[in-house]
Amino acid sequence: AFVSLRQVLDHAAEFGYGVPAFNVNNLEQVQAIMEAAQKCDSPVILQASAGARKYAGEAYLRHMMLAAVETHPDLPVVLHQDHGTSPAVCMQSIRSGFTSVMMDGSLMADGKTPASYAYNVEVTRRACEMAHAVGVSVEGELGCLGSLETGEAGEEDGIGAAGKLSHDMMLTDPDQAADFVTQTGVDALAIAIGTSHGAYKFSRKPTGDILAIDRIKAIHARIPNTHLVMHGSSSVPQEWLAIIREHGGSIKETYGVPVVEIQVGIRHGVRKVNIDTDIRLAMTGAMRRSLAQNPGEFDPRKAQIAARKAASDICVARFEAFGCAGQA
Ligand code: G3H
Ligand code: 13P
Ligand code: NA
Ligand code: ZN
Repeated sequence: AFVSLRQVLDHAAEFGYGVPAFNVNNLEQVQAIMEAAQKCDSPVILQASAGARKYAGEAYLRHMMLAAVETHPDLPVVLHQDHGTSPAVCMQSIRSGFTSVMMDGSLMADGKTPASYAYNVEVTRRACEMAHAVGVSVEGELGCLGSLETGEAGEEDGIGAAGKLSHDMMLTDPDQAADFVTQTGVDALAIAIGTSHGAYKFSRKPTGDILAIDRIKAIHARIPNTHLVMHGSSSVPQEWLAIIREHGGSIKETYGVPVVEIQVGIRHGVRKVNIDTDIRLAMTGAMRRSLAQNPGEFDPRKAQIAARKAASDICVARFEAFGCAGQA
């Protein structure tokens, strides 16, 4: 059944686990996530970005989610809008049946320019007022996602901030977070700790200076009753990078957020962990390998089946690592 984000995260907080929120764009991704959730007996957060809505179209997305719930009636499923750029965008998603929306007021409505604190409070408060009136949850974001190594917002996500970000903008301030939650009434808060979207997060295995897990501890100590959200939390598995490279792809050296660091976050209030890139890497690697190994094959289902299996295996691993297995 469809449930709100609040319901799922309240349970996660009570029992001390984290829930992966997977981005979906097509049928095979929805199937892969649902199959993994069924195997693990886990609650599900399916999230759709503006890019997903553009790619698949709102009606297809909605009906794929409906099909997921119809196929797995015993699993709780949150239908979450990822990175809404205005209260109006959130309203559209609410009307279309989403049970949760992200109002990302850390950026202006162009989705690129860093916004003032006052602007962020105002748009997020308005989104909460609307959404809560109809039982829909709201995730806000305070601080801008970006690399503490380069000051850049990250590649290939299409929503990156314009220009360079200052070090301060890329780390959420605990006192400001407390004020933000009080003023807006958000159900969950995305925080900035040095992660960014896409495959190119860190040029080396991250240490505390570029992945500020300690900042999570400080924020959680200040607002222990707020569900924290980590964006840009793909782990960028080296084994999938190797498979992509072996079969004609060229991905430069890069590192993601280690699962063990996410586990530390979960011990300090992180309840929702956003993952898109890992599924993309696994599916691309599996498709490249399948096509290379079966040169005479022209049925695309063959490569899609391999991709779906690879995606599902990633999801199982995350459900298990985040303590989410058996919690549905
Ligand atoms: O929020 C970032 C997600 O990875 C979505 O990416 O805008 O390419 O769909 P996208
Ligand atoms: P990744 O690019 O690390 O998978 O992050 C996805 C995300 O934060 C979606 O909102
Ligand atoms: Na989100
Ligand atoms: Zn994100």
